[in-house]
Amino acid sequence: MAGSGAAGTNGGNGALSFDLTNLPGDFHENPWPHYADLRENYPVCAQADGSFILSRHADLDTIYRDTTTYISDKKAVFGPKYGVGSPLFEHHTTSLVFNDAPLHTRVRKVMVGAMNPRALAAMEPGLITLVDDLNDAMAANGKAELIEDFAGAIPIEVIGNLLGIPRDRRAPLRDWSLSILGALEPQLSDAQMAEGNQAVSDFMTYLRDIIEDRRANPGDAAVDVLTRLIQSGDETGEGLSEIELYQNCIFILNAGHETTTNLIGNALSLLDQHRNKRAELLANPKLITTAVDEFLRLESPNQFGNRLTTRDVEFHGVTIPAGRDIHLCMGAANRDPRAFENPDEMQLDRRPNKHLAFAGGAHTCVGLTLARMEGRIAVERFLRRFPDYEIQPGATRGGRIRFRGFARLPVALNV
Ligand code: HEM
Repeated sequence: MAGSGAAGTNGGNGALSFDLTNLPGDFHENPWPHYADLRENYPVCAQADGSFILSRHADLDTIYRDTTTYISDKKAVFGPKYGVGSPLFEHHTTSLVFNDAPLHTRVRKVMVGAMNPRALAAMEPGLITLVDDLNDAMAANGKAELIEDFAGAIPIEVIGNLLGIPRDRRAPLRDWSLSILGALEPQLSDAQMAEGNQAVSDFMTYLRDIIEDRRANPGDAAVDVLTRLIQSGDETGEGLSEIELYQNCIFILNAGHETTTNLIGNALSLLDQHRNKRAELLANPKLITTAVDEFLRLESPNQFGNRLTTRDVEFHGVTIPAGRDIHLCMGAANRDPRAFENPDEMQLDRRPNKHLAFAGGAHTCVGLTLARMEGRIAVERFLRRFPDYEIQPGATRGGRIRFRGFARLPVALNV
């Protein structure tokens, strides 16, 4: 970790104490001391490319709430990164998360409407059956790899159902999702870039007959997101263009995969490290609701978000000029002692718990209720079935900066 300095004393351009393109060697294993240094000593941390990292809870909260000063449109950043017109550029600049009104407002309205409480409640029984079936399959084997056999398998089914993707066609979704979201990392190899572009192209081709089929045979628009997206403009004439429809289908299929997998994997890893908390949860299963938010806070699946400044702004005596990319370190903000008492401690009943794992403001995660439901059911039922599980040597982190989770999590079920 580079040196420290008092907040606000690090000069007009902030300090280059933490470099997103050259991470400390132990970053993936233990980012927390690095985040603490950033948050406490370099709350506005300049990067060599002119961008800045912000990491205090109050600062991120301010930024998320002000969509005029801090915009989500990323064309200026993704143009040089991916090349204008490339599949990755087209995808990431057309999805709602990297847009502002009016596109963002139109797409978001459709998605929020589709994920209404009735639709989500209707999904719960199927989710319980899915989790129990996965538990049965792992028990039959005696051992398991928690990402492939459990945490990664759940969101694929859930989002596949949400969009009505035929079950026998879901196999490629996870790899495409990893490649497309992986391309958001600050630094990409040529191979990663090529993989991401190929994944977008393959995904577009794949969606063609699914969308055409749904157009011809619409589902129940009350619960079927794809039917809603297709029909979105029918009454108002302000629906999605064809390209917007495809790219936002890809986005929704991606948005809940890696994130929810990480939530479940991180939660089971945390409960392996904190056996007393596991015992507490087993003794008092009602704690699961607040516990899921505590897992989200402590090991946020999405560690960094981004915004672009539209005017000069000042934080802690440092001016960030207009037109700069800012990285919002939710991983650090969620352990900010100004916002959370004993922030590094796991408190299963923590309340209030105003973590930023789902961001905030106009772009707050649309799938947060669904994600919480998946986390609650998966962790609760796994724990009840395998109360003595133990993570085995060989656990491997995903190696991403933006997303924190495991690539592999071998487990002995001890049944
Ligand atoms: C634990 C799981 C999840 C986490 C941690 C998570 C996190 C986030 C975050 C941080 C954002 C805001 C990005 C930004 O503006 O910078 C976001 C946006 C979004 N998420 Fe999630 N997400 C999760 C699961 C899901 C699921 C299951 C779905 C849908 C099925 C979903 C759909 C979306 C959508 C559509 C947006 C864009 C919202 C907008 O731009 O208005 N997410 N998510």
